[in-house]
Amino acid sequence: MIKTIVWKNNKVVLIDQNALPLAESYVTCRTYQQVIAAIRGLTVRGAPAIGVAAAMAAALGAAALPALPLDQFRIKFSLICDEIARARPTARNLFWALERMQKCLDDNIAAEKKNLKKELIAEARRICAGDIAINRRMGKHGSFLIDDGDNILTHCNAGALATAGYGTALGVLRAAREQGKKLHVYVDETRPVLQGARLTAWEMQKEKIPATLITDNMAGFLMQQGRIDKIIVGADRIAANGDTANKIGTYSLAVLAGAHNIPFYIAAPLSTIDASLKTGAEIPIEERAAAEVTSFRGVPTAPRNIKVRNPAFDVTPARFITAIITEKGILEKPYGKSIRTVLKG
Ligand code: MRU
Repeated sequence: MIKTIVWKNNKVVLIDQNALPLAESYVTCRTYQQVIAAIRGLTVRGAPAIGVAAAMAAALGAAALPALPLDQFRIKFSLICDEIARARPTARNLFWALERMQKCLDDNIAAEKKNLKKELIAEARRICAGDIAINRRMGKHGSFLIDDGDNILTHCNAGALATAGYGTALGVLRAAREQGKKLHVYVDETRPVLQGARLTAWEMQKEKIPATLITDNMAGFLMQQGRIDKIIVGADRIAANGDTANKIGTYSLAVLAGAHNIPFYIAAPLSTIDASLKTGAEIPIEERAAAEVTSFRGVPTAPRNIKVRNPAFDVTPARFITAIITEKGILEKPYGKSIRTVLKG
């Protein structure tokens, strides 16, 4: 199994997603600041993996604090969490994980537990293990939407690498394969950072899942040719009405899917839902460095000083989404209602 993120001897070990697919190497973070840098620099990426990394960063930060009176420990921990929260703005899972860590501290203070650092480390490890279990449940639910022989298009990387393991969108495909279904995956390369070409294609090869790599602008043509039966992608944040932020390019795929009557599925854990946001218009969209668009691995691909836009995510309106696959089952339209119900239960 691919080990995306592991807590080992009071350190956080990450597979270096920038080095893939050329090298399978690992980065060891000893401080919470190193984990923040790894999140910003995309060493670790994908909403659920970012959440797990944030929780582990908070645990590292807590573990390094000197002995302090309780109220001061709480304030210092809260400041560390605030700093981690600024690592990246879009993935809801980052904030969800930090809220869980803060609640863990409060609950343990209330229970008068002595070793708060140990409790926080244990919570971060639970968040990590829990993510894999959630993905397996999501996979099982989603696998019923997949038919034997399907050709499935995916965008970005919503696989083991984007989570603590198994994956969300790719988890659904893994589960379908475990049930003996044959399938073939079209992998969008996912400009500008190539999470599809570098990471999803690598995962597919590693698991021997038949896959074909395409550039993003080929997807519409393949849909027109009847080559794609279903589209399944992950999510970074889902608003209360089902509008979904995911990797830039997802919106175009959803519109194309609608035009060609192709089911368009989102697979995401409940921790990706942000019910405090009425619609996707309120989701903060990260704008990343121009260099991601004007060069690749340091090699220029555009003239110097050209003006650039680089939004890392877009928002797909709920009406284009056929269903949302979660660990608690498949949500259908109207999403406002199904999301409210699933969050209550
Ligand atoms: O910028 P990234 O690589 O962190 O973006 C990742 C995505 O957009 C994924 O599709 C999303 O986080 C879902 S991952 C299960």
